[in-house]
Amino acid sequence: MRLFHSPSKEPLWKDEFSVFTSDERYVTRRQFTKFLTLASLGMFVGNLWILAKVRFTKTPAFPTVEVADISEIPVRGVKLFTYPTAQDHCIMIRTSEEEYVGYSQKCTHLSCAVYYSAKNDCLECPCHQGFFSVKDGSVLQGPPPRPLPQITLERHGAKLLAVGVKGSSTARWHLSSCCSSSRSGC
Ligand code: FES
Repeated sequence: MRLFHSPSKEPLWKDEFSVFTSDERYVTRRQFTKFLTLASLGMFVGNLWILAKVRFTKTPAFPTVEVADISEIPVRGVKLFTYPTAQDHCIMIRTSEEEYVGYSQKCTHLSCAVYYSAKNDCLECPCHQGFFSVKDGSVLQGPPPRPLPQITLERHGAKLLAVGVKGSSTARWHLSSCCSSSRSGC
């Protein structure tokens, strides 16, 4: 115990307080290693969880819905239907005796309903003059940024069934030279 207190600029209570801020803030190697280990373990568990979720989550199955009786649709005829839910409006076109195509009716620009123009043999959006190919739904002309989602159709006897939707993730802008200047060329 000190008998005489040496004069100091620090207040007396600081001399007698046994906890020092610098010691409190000091991180030991052990603490740092523990922190790194826990953080790595957390990330590892998180990645495992994501991996398991991706691995075991089934992709949603599309329903099978009857679209039309083939005999009721003439060549170049059209049938409107909904798929996969009652809110998703679609259009089916019989392009030849044995060929049928189906697309979502919702324009990929601002969601107006597209319709089939037999005269121009393409799908047209009346809102901003967007044109889609009837062969694959690709954009021929206008502002739509992506092709129309395509409905997978299967023929079972005299019935035409919708069985799936081809994703629009492979969408790409396709400007057909035959349509770049006028509607009539589509
Ligand atoms: S909404 Fe179809 S072109 Fe704009």
